[in-house]
Amino acid sequence: MATIEGKAKELLDKAEVVVIGTCSGDGIHLVATWGDFVRTIGIQDGNKIVIPAGGYRQTEQNLKGNNKVEVLVGSKQVEGTQGMGTGCRLSGTGEVQTSGELYDLTKSEFPWARGAFVIHVDEIEYML
Ligand SMILES: Cc1cc2nc3c(=O)[nH]c(=O)nc-3n(C[C@H](O)[C@H](O)[C@H](O)COP(=O)(O)O)c2cc1C
Repeated sequence: MATIEGKAKELLDKAEVVVIGTCSGDGIHLVATWGDFVRTIGIQDGNKIVIPAGGYRQTEQNLKGNNKVEVLVGSKQVEGTQGMGTGCRLSGTGEVQTSGELYDLTKSEFPWARGAFVIHVDEIEYML
């Protein structure tokens, strides 16, 4: 298990867009969310990112066959090894929850959400 702290937290605090990848038999599938959506719910239990799922139907289907998820976050407002601008890849597993505490929290902030896309982060790798 990884803890989302330090630069990874700073990146999630500043990113405009967060990109999320899953896999199907056909290959990679990328979707996105807004950074401020991730910040509205906030990191849960130190390593969970919770995203309001309005769509993500293909993503959810993919997760049923392979629950691995990779998330890419970047910002020019966070300093990296070569000056301003860095990013990281968060790897872990995910599921779309349609009941429970995180679902209720998501619905309270985003009434349009059909579920909570919960990503459990296991590893953080920095880029740049
Ligand atoms: C910048 C950006 C932010 C998005 N935010 C969300 C979001 O928070 N929730 C959501 O369900 N879809 C969001 N979408 C749409 C998804 O990326 C995706 O296209 C859609 O949910 C369909 O997912 P699927 O291909 O897994 O079925 C966003 C798209 C963009 C480009």
